[in-house]
Amino acid sequence: MTHAISVTDLTKMFGDFTAVDHISFNVEQGEVFGFLGPNGAGKTTTTRMLTGISTPTTGTATIMDHEIHSFAAKERMGVVTDLSNVYNDLSAWDNLIFTGKLYGLSRQKREQKAEELLEMFGLLEVRKDNVREFSGGMKRRLTIAMALINDADVLFLDEPTTALDVQSVRRIRELIRELNAEGTTIFLTTHNMAEANELCSRIAIINQGRIGTIGSPEELKQAMNKMHSIEVAFDRQLDSLKEKMEELRTVSSVQKQGDKFWIFTHSPPEALAEIFTLAQHHDLKLLTVNTLGPSLEDVFLEITGEQIVQRGKSQMGGMKQNRGGK
Ligand SMILES: Nc1ncnc2c1ncn2[C@@H]1O[C@H](COP(=O)(O)OP(=O)(O)O)[C@@H](O)[C@H]1O
Ligand SMILES: [Mg+2]
Repeated sequence: MTHAISVTDLTKMFGDFTAVDHISFNVEQGEVFGFLGPNGAGKTTTTRMLTGISTPTTGTATIMDHEIHSFAAKERMGVVTDLSNVYNDLSAWDNLIFTGKLYGLSRQKREQKAEELLEMFGLLEVRKDNVREFSGGMKRRLTIAMALINDADVLFLDEPTTALDVQSVRRIRELIRELNAEGTTIFLTTHNMAEANELCSRIAIINQGRIGTIGSPEELKQAMNKMHSIEVAFDRQLDSLKEKMEELRTVSSVQKQGDKFWIFTHSPPEALAEIFTLAQHHDLKLLTVNTLGPSLEDVFLEITGEQIVQRGKSQMGGMKQNRGGK
C-alpha cells in the first residue's frame, strides 16, 4: 500500500552540525502521527524537509509515493509552519481566496472551498474582518484552513497549539480529530506528551536529531505512569537514606537533588505512605513534599535509556519545562 509519508535516512546538516541524523520511518494513510521531542530536537527541520521548504543533506522521502520536491507531492500536502503565514492586512476570506489562487484553483472551486472551510473552522461570521483583529487562536485556525484549501491528503502541523489559550487549544485538537475522521493523514509535531497521547495513533520520539523510539500512545502512557515522582526533603541527613528509600516496595528509583530527593514511583500515594512510615521510624521530619508529573525527559529515559539533551536557542532552563504537566 502507498505510504502517506515514507522517509529513508533523512539527514540535515547545518555546517558541521547535524540537526537531523539519518531518520527513517513510514506514516500510513489515515494516521495521526506524532513527532514528539524537546526544543531543538529537529522537529521543524524535519517538517521543512518533508514539505519541500528545505533540501535534505542526504536521504529521501516521499508523500503518497511522490518524491518530496515534485509538484505531485506538493499537490497532496498542506503545511502549517511554526511561523504564521497569514496576511494581517487581508480578511480571512481574502487570505483563503489568495491561497486558493496560489494553488491554481478555479474561481468557483476556491470560493466553494473557502466557504466550506470558514464554516468548519468557525470563522464564517468574521470572514470579512481584518485578520489583524483576530485572536491567536482564530489566526491559527485560519492558517490550518489555508493549508487545506487544496484538499490535502497529508497535513503537516508544526506545534499547532503552542502559545494558545486553553480554549483555542481544545478547539484545534477537535479540528485535528475531525479532519482525521474525514480521512486526512496528519503529521503533528509537538513537545507536549499529553497532546501526543490524546491525538496520535503512533508517536515517534525525537531527541538530538535521532528517533529514539516509535510506539503507540499506550506504550508512552505506561512509561508516563511509571515515572511519577515525589520530591521530599527531611529536617536532617541520615546515612544511607537514599538506599533505604530505594528498598521501599513502591519506589522504582531515587535521585538526590541538593537537599531534596526525587522519588520515582508508579503510585505516588502508596510511596508517600511508605516514606512517612520510614521517616517516623527514623524520627525524621518531612520538610517538603511535592508530587510531580512525569517530564518528557523522564519518560524518554525510561523508554530508551538515553538522556534528552536540549539544544539550540531555548537551552537555558529548558530541562524542567514539562515537569508538572499532565
Ligand atoms: N537554519 C539553521 N541554521 C543552523 N542551525 C539550525 C537552523 N535551523 C535549525 N537549526 C538548529 O537545528 C536544531 C534543530 O532545530 P529545530 O528543527 O528547529 O528543532 P525543534 O523544531 O525540534 O525545536 C537546533 O539546534 C537548531 O538550533
Ligand atoms: Mg520547532
